[in-house]
Amino acid sequence: MAAVRFRGVHKRFGLVSAVEELDLEIDDGEFLVVVGPSGCGKSTTLRMLAGLERPSNGLISIGDRVVNLVSPKSRDVAVVFQNYALYPHMTVYDNLSFGMRIRHEPREHIRRQVADVAQQLGLSALLDRKPAALSGGERQRVAVGRALLRRPQVFLMDEPLSNLDATLRVHMRGELSRLHARVGTTTFYVTHDQIEAMTLGDRIAVMRAGRLQQVASPETLYDEPVNMFVAGFIGAPRMNFLPARVTVTDGRPCLDVLSIRLDVTGVALDSASLRSERVVLGIRPEDVRWSREAPPPSWPRLRGVVEIIEPVGAETYVTVQVEYARLLARFPPRTGLRPGEQVELALDQTRIHVFDAETEQAVPRLPASALAPSQ
Ligand SMILES: Nc1ncnc2c1ncn2[C@@H]1O[C@H](COP(=O)(O)OP(=O)(O)O)[C@@H](O)[C@H]1O
Ligand SMILES: [Mg+2]
Repeated sequence: MAAVRFRGVHKRFGLVSAVEELDLEIDDGEFLVVVGPSGCGKSTTLRMLAGLERPSNGLISIGDRVVNLVSPKSRDVAVVFQNYALYPHMTVYDNLSFGMRIRHEPREHIRRQVADVAQQLGLSALLDRKPAALSGGERQRVAVGRALLRRPQVFLMDEPLSNLDATLRVHMRGELSRLHARVGTTTFYVTHDQIEAMTLGDRIAVMRAGRLQQVASPETLYDEPVNMFVAGFIGAPRMNFLPARVTVTDGRPCLDVLSIRLDVTGVALDSASLRSERVVLGIRPEDVRWSREAPPPSWPRLRGVVEIIEPVGAETYVTVQVEYARLLARFPPRTGLRPGEQVELALDQTRIHVFDAETEQAVPRLPASALAPSQ
């Protein structure tokens, strides 16, 4: 196992800048997930770490060693790709043991190692089959098994679950978590799926257009996104964004949004850092409550008209037209509501996010110790 470090890494393909100014450290044994929309530079970052692409600038190290000039084979990493990359003409056993056979390890040693990993991954009964006779999930497990058998310093995984159906993806996600808990190998995992990122990562690195936006634990990313991009990308359904204006009433900072005024003393915004009174208010769907659920009376209310109702089982996503805006809220199941009905919403004003409308950066919060008691 080893720590990984990117220092000032850039990657250009001709005029295309795929990765810019990347500074990122992955602790020894950590499961780091890189997430972002398609084309943001995730695979390029992974391929530079694997040695399949050379950085245009900057340094990459694995453990104490700068690896920029080290060949992929000598980096001691194992890669699992989305398309598995199994040898089609070899059996599962031969696919799993390939690396060890090339290194001429003793036959009996190989047999034991393969049997052990096959058992861990539920492949014991499939060792004589060829990849064509396996399901997608089974092929994926063989690819993971092959990586495990290399006992590398670092696992690199590029969207390894994307080809699987939804049920299998959830199952394999659990398997990968358990595997990491047991083996503890440093893992660099790439996905476009924010739920996969949230459920697998010790920490998550969010990228956009070649640039790292934020690296943090899943909870911190969700509760304290540094900008509107991260706020909108992490969390489903997505955070609501509303144009708002900062005012000061009786010496207290307030936010005018739609037709209401929110007292933001309770969120202790560092309003000194505001560049303009124009801001964007962000509020997650679970912090917009239906008045029937008896939210605290102090929460400000808004009336609106139900537009879309999406029951998803344990809860219902309800889109409500409020004045000129649309708000998505999480309601309980079996609301009995119909489109066109009037509803009253209550906002948890302690849970709001405020962004600079120009820069889209979050307005910083003061430390918790500075919080005034909320009323
Ligand atoms: N070999 C290449 N030649 C030219 N452009 C490339 C090459 N590889 C990737 N790119 C470009 O770099 C950007 C990042 O690509 P990639 O790292 O594959 O994104 P992601 O994996 O996040 O979807 C994209 O604009 C892509 O078109
Ligand atoms: Mg990719």
